[in-house]
Amino acid sequence: MSRLLFAANWKMHHAPAAAREVVRAVLARHRPQPDRELIFYPPAVSLGVVVEEIKGRRDAAAGVQNVHWEPKGAFTGEISAPIAAAAGAVWALVGHSERRHKFGETDAETGKKVRAALAAGLKPMLCVGELIEERRAGRTEEVVLRQLAAGLADLDAAATARVAIAYEPVWAIGTGVNATPADAAAVHRVIRGWLAQRTPPGARAAILYGGSVNADNAAALLAEDELDGVLVGGASLEAESWLKILAAPRATR
Ligand code: 13P
Repeated sequence: MSRLLFAANWKMHHAPAAAREVVRAVLARHRPQPDRELIFYPPAVSLGVVVEEIKGRRDAAAGVQNVHWEPKGAFTGEISAPIAAAAGAVWALVGHSERRHKFGETDAETGKKVRAALAAGLKPMLCVGELIEERRAGRTEEVVLRQLAAGLADLDAAATARVAIAYEPVWAIGTGVNATPADAAAVHRVIRGWLAQRTPPGARAAILYGGSVNADNAAALLAEDELDGVLVGGASLEAESWLKILAAPRATR
């Protein structure tokens, strides 16, 4: 049985002390389960305390919210994949919609970041998703496949299989309007079909859904066999709501 991924993207929240408190509270009450992995994406300055707190928990890992594509150099304010890995990150988010739409990150840059993360031994989690006007215009599939093609450009099949994909429709992020389980699953099927042509036979891609996931809708979303996990912003900030999401039953495959 594949592991469900429960990823907490804390965005620009939780300084080290708060990060420590939340991780401690969550891990104290969430017993390790063989079928689920917890991933914490704190702000980079809080990565160290998260890495300390999860030590000894094989079901938990930490990651960074962004990486630069160069391994080192004069890039003030940036963090490279090798530096993130050396600081204890296992995962790297790439192409989050806020990076794309608030900071102007391009498709081509996401590809460079995915390749840099892989080269540093990090597991990239590539985020894709359409704007509301793109969905209304019936362009969801085209946008998502374009982002996948750019983000996974120049990778062989084995490398492609090492990248997790997070489908996060932009209109669902931080809005309280989540995609319905059926709508999320439909886009996951498109992504899975595209990946199946580009990964080794039998490899199951990890495809997560993100966008207004909370304690009330997580179970319905995860009841969809297509979802291999969830990427959660607001509802992962407090231990209480995150624990409820972590307890959601999974689909029977
Ligand atoms: P919300 O869960 O707050 O909608 O954020 C989703 C997200 O962007 C996770 O990366």
